Amino acid sequence: MTTTETANQVKTAVQAIRQQTQYQPTVGLVLGSGLSELANSIQNPDIIHYESIPGWPQSTVVGHSGRLVIGTLEGKTVLVQQGRAHYYEGYNMEQITLPVRVMNAMGIKTLVVTNAAGGINASFNPGDLMLITDHINFLGMAGLNPLRGPNDDSIGPRFMDMIGTYDLGLRKLAKETAVANNFTLQEGTYAYVAGPSFETPAELRFLRAVGADAVGMSTVPTVVTARHADMQIMGISSITNKAVPDPEPGTVLDHEEVLETGKLIIPKLTALLRGVLQQL
Ligand code: HPA
Repeated sequence: MTTTETANQVKTAVQAIRQQTQYQPTVGLVLGSGLSELANSIQNPDIIHYESIPGWPQSTVVGHSGRLVIGTLEGKTVLVQQGRAHYYEGYNMEQITLPVRVMNAMGIKTLVVTNAAGGINASFNPGDLMLITDHINFLGMAGLNPLRGPNDDSIGPRFMDMIGTYDLGLRKLAKETAVANNFTLQEGTYAYVAGPSFETPAELRFLRAVGADAVGMSTVPTVVTARHADMQIMGISSITNKAVPDPEPGTVLDHEEVLETGKLIIPKLTALLRGVLQQL
């Protein structure tokens, strides 16, 4: 698409949203697999179904609802993307990143992204939260970067610095919140792979060797696009399973496990988000 076509698509989506809400959100929150329930904490919500927004990608994955929930949480006006589309569903990078481009066009400057991820770091356990400090964009490094194609200079530069992508100030707030609420917050590097198959033992040995602490199938295209627009970004992985090359005999990883563990993490994740929002 040309930059004009993309900008028009974003504009159309923004108009469709504005017709359904009077709120002016300042924070965007993307909820990953099994984390949908968190949107129930939003007060006085306007609910906007994805079908009512032209061009908005629908998630076909169990555990992802297809709605925007816009309302208040801890006094901040938040737009919650309850369910996301993934590359493995057949969407292209442009489609996957429409939501974050729309958030930016609406004036949202702070983005919180969440996901379900496998814990590669041997000290991580299912049920842990990991603050994302950095990422490895395997798809992007291989050519599938959402910024490929004509650059819209009105949004950000062609060649973009990725150092400091995961905002230090927000990370500090998250860590303080975890201490105040008495839970452990792991930190580490998130490796983005395409999926939908989970990793082989050889792939997990490779990911471990290159310094990944967690692995998942989402989030990074959104983060790259948000960074281009100079948004402040915080990323949280809910570690739903161990992703190690030598699992206990008989363990089988499936999406059900990812969803079940995701649910158990919700109270902790809710406390974390509330704590951060309070201090923004
Ligand atoms: N691998 C990739 N993506 C995931 C995993 C995993 O082990 N768990 C949840 N999402």
